[in-house]
Amino acid sequence: MTGVTRKIVEVLEGKTIAPPPIWLMRQAGRYLPEYRETRARAGTFLDLCYTPDLAVEVTLQPIRRYGFDAAILFSDILVIPDALKRNVRFVQGEGPRMDPIDVPGIERLRSQGVLDHLAPVIETVGRLRRVLPEETTLLGFCGAPWTVATYMIAGHGTPDQAPARLFAYRNPEAFERLLSVLAEISAEYLIAQIDAGADAVQIFDSWAGVLGEREFEAYATKPVARMIELVRSARPKAKIIAFAKGAGPNLKSYRQKTKADAIGLDWSVPLSFAAELQKDGPVQGNLDPMRVVAGGKSLEEGIDAILDRLGNGPLIFNLGHGITPEADPDHVTALVERVRGAKA
Ligand code: CP3
Repeated sequence: MTGVTRKIVEVLEGKTIAPPPIWLMRQAGRYLPEYRETRARAGTFLDLCYTPDLAVEVTLQPIRRYGFDAAILFSDILVIPDALKRNVRFVQGEGPRMDPIDVPGIERLRSQGVLDHLAPVIETVGRLRRVLPEETTLLGFCGAPWTVATYMIAGHGTPDQAPARLFAYRNPEAFERLLSVLAEISAEYLIAQIDAGADAVQIFDSWAGVLGEREFEAYATKPVARMIELVRSARPKAKIIAFAKGAGPNLKSYRQKTKADAIGLDWSVPLSFAAELQKDGPVQGNLDPMRVVAGGKSLEEGIDAILDRLGNGPLIFNLGHGITPEADPDHVTALVERVRGAKA
């Protein structure tokens, strides 16, 4: 690399940058007319993920429009169950579907061929690093074992992941095996993304918040700690963001035990607690995505509160979860301008 500094990488190294660098979870998506246009040409959602020409295009769309400090690979956390032959499909208006896994199915899971299946995604990463502006950080990602397991067990999304919680109580050994298979495959997948050019990776544990205290430790913290250990033992300089949505007070020990470089915060994390967490290292977040839908004063107040409380420490500005299809693209312009206009 030619001495370029990528701001998000610098924050992940512990630096404070003012104004803070910004990207948004789900920044490529249905709120953008150009995404909807490409999506309509792609066929199925998975075709979009597995066609490098199209995946590169949609990854770049929000970079062209807003000049975010990071591009995030366009793919989905459910390509892992797809590679594990769980018959994943995305039904219009219903969300993801796959064949629900049972105990014998878990015993039969094999990691052979998974990375071959994901070769088009890895190719997308390599192409992106070659065409992105030098100063733009390229983020890879995957789902955390718990969140991916919840979809594999239920076979679809649920409001509270009751099927996966119940399965784990009834079949603790099979469930542990499922998590450890996912942790190992996901670590290999992240290493492949890093080797192809990802500057940092994010692990999404979007359903961490439905777990009780002991289960959070066993099913969220432990597998993510294992993944990070596997990635770092192969690539010691790997930069990793861990986002455990709804983890609340668990976040302090989550950071310590997983050793993630930065932790992502959802909007329910109080800014006073976020400031405490920031004393231990970089944080990312945590604007309520509904403020981007609402726009105006509510958007400005939400941005200013985060900048006031967290802007003097290592911060990556982001939402507290993915941007929603109802968000107005002009509100995103206003968001980026306000964050970039913040005084040092
Ligand atoms: O952030 C980005 O721009 C990168 C792309 C990305 C997508 N999904 C694209 C996508 C990322 C990082 C994800 C992660 C993801 N996928 C998570 C973790 C983060 C989160 O939001 O909680 C989860 C739980 C999934 C699983 C998933 N994928 C669901 C539940 C759905 C359907 C829900 C819905 O909104 O319809 C998807 C589909 C999906 N993944 C879409 C996009 C842009 C929308 C589908 C479409 O365009 O037809």
